[in-house]
Amino acid sequence: DYRAALFDLDGVIVDTAVHHFAAWRQTAAELGFSLADEDEELLKGVGRMDALRIVLGIGGVEVSEDEQQRLAAEKNARYVEAISTITPDEMLPGAREYLVSLRDRGVLTALGSASRNAPMILQRLEITDLFDAIIDGSVVSEAKPNPRVFLAGAEALGAAPADCVVFEDAIAGIQAAHAGGMIAVGIGEPEVLTEADVVIPGLHAAGSLSAQGIEFVGSR
Ligand code: G6P
Ligand code: MG
Repeated sequence: DYRAALFDLDGVIVDTAVHHFAAWRQTAAELGFSLADEDEELLKGVGRMDALRIVLGIGGVEVSEDEQQRLAAEKNARYVEAISTITPDEMLPGAREYLVSLRDRGVLTALGSASRNAPMILQRLEITDLFDAIIDGSVVSEAKPNPRVFLAGAEALGAAPADCVVFEDAIAGIQAAHAGGMIAVGIGEPEVLTEADVVIPGLHAAGSLSAQGIEFVGSR
């Protein structure tokens, strides 16, 4: 049985991935190329500067370090503007309920997100209190698939990697979980998240996990 649940934010708890991608599309447009729908998967879970480098690579564009900083700051300003009005209503189905049910059972919870905007989003969603630990892109700079963000979460909870289940919508995030010695529940489509141990369409379906051998035990 597992004692701790570690959650990615974007695409698992709230549907912000669409806003990240829209903001990157505008960056590409300014540089004179466009991003294909499939490119969105490459940018999920990846830190801001790494995501920029992926975007530039797609366009075959090289820019100076200063210009990279400017492009990333502009993208972030667009993203922050887009999410500045999100409300608790915009959480993904079942996310709040699942977090509450885990906590009611004494299961430890942590956030493990590459986003520096994570604390602000949690506040706007009014779910900051549902996490025992919050690890975001300002705490850990190594980007997924590096396991650092999840290892820091486990450490903050006082849990061993083998006690933790990671919930992730990004390929890089599932790889990060495995690199840290943790089991990974993919949120999305099995065809995309082929490396996940189990895939469910969303946290509304998390009730099916125990039938698939993933059971939590309280330890608070
Ligand atoms: C999450 C998203 C990524 C995003 C990253 C950094 O992991 O899935 O698409 O690039 O956070 O977000 P930030 O808000 O710091 O730019
Ligand atoms: Mg994500």
